[in-house]
Amino acid sequence: MYLDKFKLTGKIAVVTGAARGIGLAAVEALAEAGATVVLTDMNPELLSAATEGLKAKGLPVDSAVLDVTDAKAVEAAHDAILARHGRVDVLVNNAGIAISNHPAETMADEVWNKVIDVNLNGVFWCCRAFGSTMLRQGGGAIVNVGSMSGFIVNRPQEQANYNASKAAVHHLTRSLAAEWGARGVRVNAVAPTYIDTEMNRYVYENEEMYRHWVGGTPMNRLGRTDEVASVILFLASDASSLMTGSIVLADGGYICW
Ligand code: NAI
Repeated sequence: MYLDKFKLTGKIAVVTGAARGIGLAAVEALAEAGATVVLTDMNPELLSAATEGLKAKGLPVDSAVLDVTDAKAVEAAHDAILARHGRVDVLVNNAGIAISNHPAETMADEVWNKVIDVNLNGVFWCCRAFGSTMLRQGGGAIVNVGSMSGFIVNRPQEQANYNASKAAVHHLTRSLAAEWGARGVRVNAVAPTYIDTEMNRYVYENEEMYRHWVGGTPMNRLGRTDEVASVILFLASDASSLMTGSIVLADGGYICW
């Protein structure tokens, strides 16, 4: 009975930024649990390679090119997915970028705006479009990918844009949870530590970074994408049916220190 709560049999899930990294791992987790998953990403080549790879494994997936910063494109993708699949039960807002090592006093307008546009505005456009459908259906689960950077300020890299965007995602999560809680739509977030993805591997060659990132983590290592995907699956499934507005840290203990 308890294991059944993690199942997503017959559900339709949508994941943004799904072509690689945490998003791709989330797709695998949701699909293994029984959902049909629509991968969306702004990069058509990566998206098609990821989708074909999952199909080859026999997982039930579909895909749509989508840049989450384009509110009209989000509405159009939502309409197309709804027309094709009939409903949407799970939305994972994973698309996000970091533009780091920009001290605040000299950060260019576009460096600030770009990160806020993808990480915050993109999450809102997707919540608005897919959340409306979930409200009409009378149920659904949204999982936003926040970050421990919404709780702490990372060291040594300066990234006020990223940190502010993720703190905003956490409070957007709580705001929507409060508005939609009585109507069956749950909204939660996962807040990961540094994850061992392509973009972070340079840490192994940078002594100062390594000292701060890994040495500053009680578990003394980076996280893996599957370790974030498990939390996403939990928050997307009925196993977390009493949870809404929660920001679940998966940080190897980083914020303990
Ligand atoms: P990644 O860079 O490996 O993958 C991100 C994916 O999002 C790529 O496929 C990219 O094409 C897509 N994407 C970027 N901008 C987009 C847009 N405007 N519209 C649609 N798709 C877009 O990133 P990673 O590491 O897997 O991160 C995923 C999420 O997890 C992000 O929100 C990130 O902020 C968050 N996160 C990552 C951590 C890490 O250490 N890697 C730690 C904490 C949070």
